[in-house]
Formats: sequence, C-alpha cells, structure tokens
Amino acid sequence: SIVKPWAGRFNAPTDAFVEAFTASVAFDQRLYRYDIQGSIAHATMLAQQGILTAAECDAIISGLEAVQSEIEAGTFKWSIALEDVHMNIETALTAKIGEAGKKLHTGRSRNDQIATDVRLWLRDEIDLIQLEIKRLQTALLDLAEREADTILPGFTHLQVAQPITFGHHLLAWFEMLERDRDRFTDCRRRLNVMPLGAAALAGTTYPIDRQYTAQLLGFDRPAENSLDAVSDRDFAIEFTAAAAILMMHLSRYSEELILWSSAQFGFIELSDSFCTGSSIMPQKKNPDVPELVRGKSGRIFGHLMGLLTLMKSQPLAYNKDNQEDKEPLFDTVDNLKGSLRVYADMMGNVTCHRERMRVAAKQGFSTATDLADYLVRNGIAFRDAHEIVGKAVAFGVREGRDLAELTLAELQQFSVSIQADVFAVLTLEGSVAARNHLGGTAPNQVRSAIVRARTRLNTE
Ligand code: ARG
Repeated sequence: SIVKPWAGRFNAPTDAFVEAFTASVAFDQRLYRYDIQGSIAHATMLAQQGILTAAECDAIISGLEAVQSEIEAGTFKWSIALEDVHMNIETALTAKIGEAGKKLHTGRSRNDQIATDVRLWLRDEIDLIQLEIKRLQTALLDLAEREADTILPGFTHLQVAQPITFGHHLLAWFEMLERDRDRFTDCRRRLNVMPLGAAALAGTTYPIDRQYTAQLLGFDRPAENSLDAVSDRDFAIEFTAAAAILMMHLSRYSEELILWSSAQFGFIELSDSFCTGSSIMPQKKNPDVPELVRGKSGRIFGHLMGLLTLMKSQPLAYNKDNQEDKEPLFDTVDNLKGSLRVYADMMGNVTCHRERMRVAAKQGFSTATDLADYLVRNGIAFRDAHEIVGKAVAFGVREGRDLAELTLAELQQFSVSIQADVFAVLTLEGSVAARNHLGGTAPNQVRSAIVRARTRLNTE
C-alpha cells in the first residue's frame, strides 16, 4: 500500500473521502512537465552547491526523465493517495532510483514548488496565447485590406450615425487586440520571478544559490521575499483579468457578427463550417461560434471574480485555499485559447454583402454631418448648420427620402448657402473619403493604417 511522504507524525490513515476531497492530482497532473523541469533545476543547483553529489543529481535527472516518458506514454499510474502531481512524481522517482530520490526535496517545499510550476506553465501558455492573438489580428488585417473601400453604416446607440469603411471597423477590432497583447506581455514580465528557495515560507537552512536556479529556469530573478513568494497569486489574477478583457472584446465582436449575419442586416455571411443548423427549422444557419464565445466570456469573468475572492483575506503565507486556483486558471487558458483559435479561423472565412451594407449606409441620414460640415465651409457657424440640417432631416423623414434624394430646391428651403456641389458631399464615397486624417475612416487612411499595423505585428 502507498505510504504518504508526510505520514510520519500520523497514527490513523486519512479518511477515504477526505483523501479524495483534498487531492488535486486529477487536475494538477497537467503541470507534470513543469514540475519535472523545476525539480531538475533544483537538483542541479543542489549538486552545484555540494548539497547533493554529482552521482545523486545524475540519478535524479535520469529518473525524472524516465518518469516524464512514462507520463507521456500514458503508462504512469497517478494515485489519489499521493494527493498531488508533486508527491506522485517524487514517489515514482524514489521507487525508480532509491535513496537519491529521497534527497530531491532537500531545501524545498510543495509550497514553493507549486508556485514555481504554475508560473512556468502559465509563462508558456502566455506565449502561445500571444501567437494566437497575432493570428487573429493577421486575419483581421487581411479582411480589412480586402474591404478597405467597402462602405457600411457606422452606428452610435445602434442608430445609423455616419458611413464608415468596413476595413476601418475591422481595424478598431485590431486595436483592441493590440492592447490585449500588451497586457499579456506586461503580465508575463511580472510573473517571471522565481519562488523556489522560499521553501515552506521562511527559506531554508541549506546554502542554496537561487540566482543559479532562476537562471536555469529562465526566470528574470528570484522572488525577493520568501513569504510573498509562496503566497502570491497576483499573477494568476492579472492573467485572468487580461483574459477577461480579451473575452469581453471577443463578446463585442460576436455581438456584431451575430447582428450582421441576421436577415435584417444581411451584411456578412459566416462560412458554413463555422455555423450549425436547427433540428426543427430547416432554413436555419445559426452563428453558434460567435454566440458560444460571447457566452464563454461570462465564465471567464466568473473565474476572475473567483480568484479574487479566493485570495481575499488569506493570511500569509501558504494556505490550502490556494489549491483552488488551478481549475479556474486552467479553464481560463483552455477557453481563451479555444476562442482565439476559432475566431482566427472564422475571420479568414467571412463573406461580405457589400451591396447590403451600402444600402444600409444610405438609410438613416448617415451623411447629415457632412451636410453640416459643408455649410460650415460656406461660412455658417456649426451650431446654426446643425439646426439647418436637423430641419432638412425632419423634412426628409416626413417625405420618406434621404438627404441625397432631396432636390436642390428642396434643400435650399433650409439654407441659401446650399449649392449644386452639395451632392458630392452627400455621397457615401465623398463622406468617407473626406475623413482623411490619421485614425480616420477614409480608404487610403485604412490602407496606411494596415501597413503600420503589419509592421507592429512583425516587430513586437
Ligand atoms: N496541491 C497544492 C496546491 O495546489 C500543492 C501545495 C500543497 N502544499 C501543502 N502544504 N499542502 O496548492
């Protein structure tokens, strides 16, 4: 039967339900690679410091490598009685190599071990997430390039506001992801500090070299304070906050894609490969992917609140509460990566119904601001121009015609400053082309913004 590594001071066995209740191995086994990586670095440092012999260190390293192969081959026997990934691996190591295995845990605790494992794991996940963000950004830029001249209504309050180019809209999405990428970079920088050496909470009596271990594991530096090192989960909260913001962005994209692909808008069509049908209504093609991503934002917001609440009021240093950080964190990573992946693939396959967008852009008096600006250029103060155009719009509403559909004589009822050249500014093309400055919606601005965006993507 299995002897727990900490069994020495106990007289009675663990209650069977308590054993299962307190075990984390079912989920923390996903950290095995980082646990082994951390153990190899720790053993290497112990040997360099003369705390282990070179032979012991070699035995530990090859033993751990053998354990890793077994795990990866699927032949490793995980045991709930051994509670977590750490004790499972250490026990298997000792079973393999004997005495030397029992020395691995010298100057170490599971408290600094788990804090290290999670950081190593999350660091790799952040790198993957950033690549996936870039892939989505590239898909958005490609689509923006294709649709740089496509005009659709821009909305405020979901009411038609002004014509914009679709490329410009997609570049707005791109910018949101730029900030997300930056947040993960920032999170990674603060996360990349090594807890090992803190041991349980107070440090260790052995002459360890934390700089060396940190260097072996690619950490920027060892954590400054041993109590903080084992009890800090800020990095998990920060990561989840960055993930929550990203998911909030994806939920906004989703909302727009869902609206745009409805029969009422009809602006775009998602590829069949990213939609599903209805079991009863034969005509249905539902935007399940954006809907599901919109829904997943909720669970990730929940994980953020869960982690904050987990850490709230915890006294220093380590508490078993912290074991509860894994599942929300793992779930956040899985669903964030999945959402990014499906979005990057889906956005490469969007069909635009340019004519529908155009027709919609002509509705709702989208060029009213252009008419006001035209009057200002002809010497009228903006507030007066606003009033004049407002009256013209009210007339158009009564007549059921857009501004561009009114005759010159009709327009002139509202201002004698309106001349025949007004119709150039009332066109959709004229309207978007006139917003010709950095950050504006004009197609040539969109094209240069895409060039700048590609440079940013390739250099950061
Ligand atoms: N499974 C634990 C966790 O996830 C590892 C650290 C356990 N330390 C302890 N003293 N019980 O946090």
